[in-house]
Amino acid sequence: MKGIVLAGGSGTRLYPMTRAANKQLLPVYNKPMVYYPLTTLMLAGCRDILLVVNPQDVETYRRLFGDGSQWGLQISYAAQPKPGGIAEVFLIGRDFIGSDRVGLILGDNLFYGDSLPTMAERGATGTGATIYAYWVSDPSAYGVVGFDDDGRPNSIIEKPKVPASNWAVTGLYFYDADVCDVAARLPRSARGELEISDVNAHYLKAGRLTVEKLGRGYAWLDTGTPSSLLKAAQFVETVEDRQGLQIGSPEEVAWRRGYIDDAAFAGLIEPIKESEYGKYLQRLLARG
Ligand code: DAU
Repeated sequence: MKGIVLAGGSGTRLYPMTRAANKQLLPVYNKPMVYYPLTTLMLAGCRDILLVVNPQDVETYRRLFGDGSQWGLQISYAAQPKPGGIAEVFLIGRDFIGSDRVGLILGDNLFYGDSLPTMAERGATGTGATIYAYWVSDPSAYGVVGFDDDGRPNSIIEKPKVPASNWAVTGLYFYDADVCDVAARLPRSARGELEISDVNAHYLKAGRLTVEKLGRGYAWLDTGTPSSLLKAAQFVETVEDRQGLQIGSPEEVAWRRGYIDDAAFAGLIEPIKESEYGKYLQRLLARG
């Protein structure tokens, strides 16, 4: 299964934190932000992953992830020349996608919930497009799904002034390979972007969109402002401290899913064994 992590953008709302560092490299408590969406894609079963980043950040991300083989993945890189909209990934990633189904996750989206792997796997193995909606108090900051009286989705609108519901579209999506042609035919929006909401509205109109609602047992956290970034970090710290289990560790997911064996896992731990993170991974391995 193929997956794309979109981790470009200008991060203007987090300035000056993003003056020299790309937003998705900023920490959320104890890991780079991009670790969380990457592990979500891994939990969906994606092992062939394309990272789409700003041109000046390609080498930094390569330092972070290499070719992915240490985690049993195949990671490649592509540059988005400038932030021209989320749906541009389907033009940039056309060769990568080929004729396969593809998952897309935004590099600043943090998901948490017990059944997340099953939920994401359903999208990964579905047909047409699958998107995930989450009830939020202020939907107008997001893409918003409207539903008819029978609970069927009937509209998708990006940042509506008057939202049709409280169901925000989250940054995890699955599409069939047609998505590349759909994106190529889209006009640019008033803000000059290829909008992911227009892609989703297209699939909705064609009767090929599944909207999965993430219920109250899930957390979907925003990291777009200094305050929401801090809240996301506090959430991760609270859960990790209580459980003694970490959220968003690619090493752990790779090992638990059998992408790497015990020996390879031990090899990853050795150089970082003095860090809290390394000690955590060591405890997992010892427990077996
Ligand atoms: O987080 C979910 C929301 O993400 C959805 O509800 C919206 O429908 C969708 O448009 C998007 O809205 P945002 O306003 O949050 O998008 P933003 O411009 O902040 O970009 C989200 C991430 O994607 C961010 O990590 C940067 C990256 N990005 C964005 C654009 C527009 C890129 O890498 N390249 C881009 O061209």
